[in-house]
Amino acid sequence: MSNTAELSVDGKTYQFPIVEGSEQEKAIDISNLRDQTGYVTLDKGYKNTGATQSAITFLDGEQGILRYRGYSIEDLAAKANFLGVAYLLIYGELPNQQQYQEFEKSIQSHSQVKEGMQTILNGFPQDTHPMIELSSLVNALSAFYPDSYNEKAGDTEEHVARLLAQLPTIAAWSYKKAKGQATVQPNNNLDYCSNFLSMMFGQAGEEYKVDPVVAEALNTLLILHADHEQNCSTSTVRLVGSSQANLYASISAGINALWGPLHGGANQEVIEMLEDIKADGGDVAKYVDMAKNAKQTGFRLFGFGHRVYKNFDPRAKIIKKAADDVLSKLGVNDPVLEIAKGLEEAALNDDYFVSRKLYPNVDFYSGIIYRALGIPTNMFTVLFAIGRLPGWIAQWKEMRATKEPIGRPRQIYVGSTLRDFKALADR
Ligand code: SDX
Repeated sequence: MSNTAELSVDGKTYQFPIVEGSEQEKAIDISNLRDQTGYVTLDKGYKNTGATQSAITFLDGEQGILRYRGYSIEDLAAKANFLGVAYLLIYGELPNQQQYQEFEKSIQSHSQVKEGMQTILNGFPQDTHPMIELSSLVNALSAFYPDSYNEKAGDTEEHVARLLAQLPTIAAWSYKKAKGQATVQPNNNLDYCSNFLSMMFGQAGEEYKVDPVVAEALNTLLILHADHEQNCSTSTVRLVGSSQANLYASISAGINALWGPLHGGANQEVIEMLEDIKADGGDVAKYVDMAKNAKQTGFRLFGFGHRVYKNFDPRAKIIKKAADDVLSKLGVNDPVLEIAKGLEEAALNDDYFVSRKLYPNVDFYSGIIYRALGIPTNMFTVLFAIGRLPGWIAQWKEMRATKEPIGRPRQIYVGSTLRDFKALADR
C-alpha cells in the first residue's frame, strides 16, 4: 500500500502523506493542502474529517466495537467501577490498589462545594432545566478557583479532582432545589455512585440506605457513557480548550453541547417519545411510519441512528439487557420498556431503517433504567454528563499535552461580492 495519496487539480498532481493508526484506520494528511493547491476541503458536520490523533478511545462503527484505552466496553461494564474507568481514561492505565485509593481520596478531599455556588443556584427559577444549572455552575467554578485560568498546562490535577467530586454534588443540589428539599452533604464513607444516590434521594440529617442494585446499575451506566472519541460535546471541549480557555470553561461548553436533542439530550427525548406512543395506544407502526416520512412529519425516532455506528451501538446492547435485569430486580414494571422493544423490532425490520443503518443507540434504553432508579426525566442528560466527564477531561488534557494548535476551521464564502456603501437617504 502506498503511503501517499495523489490529488490532481487544475492540471497539476499533488501528493499527500497517508497516516495509519494503531487499529489500521487510515487518513490523508492534508495539513499543507491550501499551501500547495490553494484549495480547502468542505465537509459539513465533519463526517469525513479527522480533527486529531487520539490514544483514548477507539470505536469501529461497522463492527460495533468500543474500547477505552484498549479495554473493551463489554469487559469494563461487567468488571470495572466508574472511578477506575475514569482513572483509566485520564491517566491511560487501570489503577492499582494504591493508585485507586489515592485517586478516590483526592476526589473526596474536594467534595465540599463553596457556599457561593449555592447562592448562584438559588438565583435560578425553581423550574430551571438542570442542564442550565449544571453548565452555569461548572463555569462559575472558574470564579472560585481563579488559578484555573492562570495555570500552566499540566498543572490541572486539583481541578480534575474537584470537577469529578463536585459535578455529582451540583447535580444533586439541582434536584433537591427542584423538589424544594434541603441538600444532603457528600458522604466520603460512600463510594462514588452510592454518594451520588445518597445526595439525590437521602434526607438531610438521616442515614440513607443505598440499594446495591441501584448503585450497580448506575455504575454500569456511567461507565458506558464515559467517553466516545470525537463526538459533538467532546469536540466542543477540545475546541474551546484549544484557545487556552480553562478546564471549567471548556467542560461547561461541553455540557451545553451535550444538551442538544440530537446528542445527549436524546435520552430525555426518547422517554418523552415512548410516553407519547404509550398515550397514543402503543401503536409503534404509526410512529415508525412518521419517522420514515420525517421530511413531512418532522418526526425523528429518538434513540435511533448514529454518525459512526452503522451496526448496533455496543452500549445499547448492554443497556437493553441491563434494563431487563434492573427492572426485574427492582420489581419495576415499566410498560414503555415493552413499547421500546416493539419499536426496535418494527424499525429493524423496516427497509427505511435497515437501508440507512439506523440502529438503537446509547440513548434508546438508558432512560428506562434511569427512571427505574428514580431519576426524573429532565435529569437524564445530567446523568449522561456525569458519566462523560472523565472522557471530556481526558480529551482536554490530551489536546493540551500534545500542544494542538487553536482550532479554527476554514469556510467557502457564498455571500455578496464587493459593493459600495449607500447613505441612509439613498437606500
Ligand atoms: C449520541 O457522536 C457520538 O458518539 C454521540 C454519542 C456519544 O456517546 O457521544 O453516541 C451520543 O449523541 C447518540 C445519538 C443520540 N441522538 C439521537 O438519538 C437523535 C436521533 N438520531 C439522529 O438525529 C441521527 O441519527 C444522528 C444525529 C444521531 C446522526 O445523524 P447524521 O449522522 O447526521 O445522519 P443524518 O441526520 O444525515 O441521517 C441520515 C439519514 C437521513 O435520511 P435521508 O436524508 O438519507 O433520507 O437517516 C435519517 C435521516 O433523515 N435518520 C433518521 C434518524 N436518524 C437519521 N430517520 C428517522 N429517525 C432517526 N432517528
